[in-house]
Amino acid sequence: MNFFSHRQTNLLRARAAAFALAASASAFAADYVDLRRIEPIDGDAAAGAQKAAVCFACHGPNGNAIVPTFPKLAGQRADYLYHRLDAFKHADPKDPYVAQLPMLAIVASLNDIDMRNLAAFFAAQAPIAAAPAVAAPAAAEGETIFKQGDPARGVPPCAGCHGADANGVAATDSRQYLAWPALRGQNAAYVISRLNNFRDNLPHSSSNDFIMHGVARTLDDGSIQAIAIWLASLSPQPAH
Ligand code: HEC
Ligand code: HEC
Repeated sequence: MNFFSHRQTNLLRARAAAFALAASASAFAADYVDLRRIEPIDGDAAAGAQKAAVCFACHGPNGNAIVPTFPKLAGQRADYLYHRLDAFKHADPKDPYVAQLPMLAIVASLNDIDMRNLAAFFAAQAPIAAAPAVAAPAAAEGETIFKQGDPARGVPPCAGCHGADANGVAATDSRQYLAWPALRGQNAAYVISRLNNFRDNLPHSSSNDFIMHGVARTLDDGSIQAIAIWLASLSPQPAH
């Protein structure tokens, strides 16, 4: 059997093309991945289950992380999960931000098929609320920014890309949206840390990272916190 599926080969080609692009446009990191025209991943959830136990230590039972600094994986889009794993796998270990990520050691022992299978497994798990919903006053402000944005500050409505119910946009019309994540019910501390990283342009390895860098640089600390509190207060549902 050919080890590389045609999908993997396409991805490698995209990487090579991106490398050529990087040579002429130094604004892009060398291992820049274009996620605008990806194929849906084709993982085997049952095979993924065989490798998932090690993940539960940080991401909680079946991917429902209890410790709020870790992201929940249960019910997230499989394509998003796979491309995040692939990004960790190809991240530059010499980059100081990358070097401190616990995921680096985790992906070292996974091959491409394992990552597809794990993504399919976690996407198929029922998401559950880790803690009772928080009803902080800031949540109302977060909901407004999420749904309407803030034109005065150049903040786009998050709902345009993450869905009106924060559960992702239907990816049936265009492959462009396949790896766009659902956010509903995600842990607040993780969302705050990730938005801060996007704002600082970390990580910076895919076309999707660049999209979120542009969004996050319009957000101040108060907005980030309000949005995160509102998202965490929503009852989780599997992503669209
Ligand atoms: C030692 C703790 C630890 C273990 C074990 C671990 N992870 Fe992670 N994982 C993290 C942390 C921390 C992050 C957040 C990284 C960041 O901020 O970008 C993360 C992020 C992720 C993400 C990105 C989630 C998102 O919403 O963007 C995926 C996917 C993921 N891990 C999958 C896995 C899988 C699959 C396993 C098991 C094979 C695993 N992790 C094991 C700590 C861990
Ligand atoms: C133009 C489309 C677009 C808009 C608008 C947008 N996002 Fe995103 N968002 C994305 C994409 C694409 C990703 C995936 C980035 C990646 O893979 O690194 C993402 C990722 C995220 C993540 C990371 C999720 C995870 O599990 O790690 C968070 C949090 C997030 N966005 C929050 C927001 C918020 C809050 C807003 C509104 C202020 C917003 N986004 C507006 C496209 C968008």
